[in-house]
Amino acid sequence: VVESFEASSPCTGCANERITKKHSKKNTLRKPKTGILMLNMGGPEKLADVHDFLLRLFMDTDLMKLPVQNKLGPFIAKRRTPKIQEQYSKIGGGSPIKHWTSMQGEGMVKLLDKMSPETAPHKFYIGFRYVNPLTEEAIEEMEKDGVERAVAFTQYPQYSCSTTGSSLNAIYRYYSNRGDRPKMRWSVIDRWPTHPLLVECFAEHISNELLKFPEAKRDDVVILFSAHSLPLSVVNRGDPYPQEVGATVQRVMERLGHCNPYRLVWQSRVGPMAWLGPQTDEVIKGLCERGKKNILLVPIAFTSDHIETLHELDIEYGQVLGEECGVENIRRAESLNGNPLFMKALADLVQSHLKSNEPCSRQLTLRCPLCTNPTCGETKAFFANQKLS
Ligand code: FES
Repeated sequence: VVESFEASSPCTGCANERITKKHSKKNTLRKPKTGILMLNMGGPEKLADVHDFLLRLFMDTDLMKLPVQNKLGPFIAKRRTPKIQEQYSKIGGGSPIKHWTSMQGEGMVKLLDKMSPETAPHKFYIGFRYVNPLTEEAIEEMEKDGVERAVAFTQYPQYSCSTTGSSLNAIYRYYSNRGDRPKMRWSVIDRWPTHPLLVECFAEHISNELLKFPEAKRDDVVILFSAHSLPLSVVNRGDPYPQEVGATVQRVMERLGHCNPYRLVWQSRVGPMAWLGPQTDEVIKGLCERGKKNILLVPIAFTSDHIETLHELDIEYGQVLGEECGVENIRRAESLNGNPLFMKALADLVQSHLKSNEPCSRQLTLRCPLCTNPTCGETKAFFANQKLS
């Protein structure tokens, strides 16, 4: 039973961390007019944080529904902690997600202050779902700073109700629990799977990595776009994520002039329940069996390194599985991390969003056709009904 419910967790963490004090200090000196809340799940900064990270994750009812969740959630979190700690210890002892998000946020607001003086100064805030700084704390800080205009900016380019949806529900619940209206005017950037600069960044990282294959093998390389999988129960209630990940892949391959054959594959499945496939590891094996032994892995649904790139793709597949299958060359495209073009993409997204004066995308207003979570409807109404001017 436990395994089957663990299976509905889309993730177990994100990886190694040094928050750059320089970034946070610069950011706090600003007197913000526009606050940009960068939403993500976050990852444990150190091994001692792993348990609490897992506990919050398994208690998140927007992510998964467990019977007697207040008992089973803590049980699973405790049981999984040693294994996940071991994985984090192999990638440097913690998640780098706060480090990269801080750097990306800093680059973004610096550009925005120049690009959009009418909405300046801009300040970024980090709102993680399962580790500090938590979304609720970030909102409090924004209110304390006297932010006038707040943008909830998901850092997942492709929308899923179990990732972005969960973060947006957390914002809605913060206000509904407080029984008070927001002091700030809120809007949300809820998805951006085909933003041209995002596509450009991915294409650039793929081209760079292709050049590292031996020239004679370069044309033979199969590009595997790998995204975190979802339980089919989530997909089948109408979650938009698989389609949006496919859209990113399509645009990236168009940008690359369809230079190599490719597939979209799905990683990180756990437990015996049915998940969206094909699975990344099985595809690597299958390709090798069919003589396709030059493989480029591309993490396409996260914008910085995390445990699924540094441990799962690099160690489990790139090293261990690759050797077992007899690959000739297996490489991974670098995550977007500190790429300045990616910071430009973030700034461009915020600037055009602020100009649009729209509280959210039209797509956000539609609940999954088979959604049974009433909070989703309330959250969507909360954002769609914000008065921006
Ligand atoms: S699960 Fe998708 S809107 Fe509720």
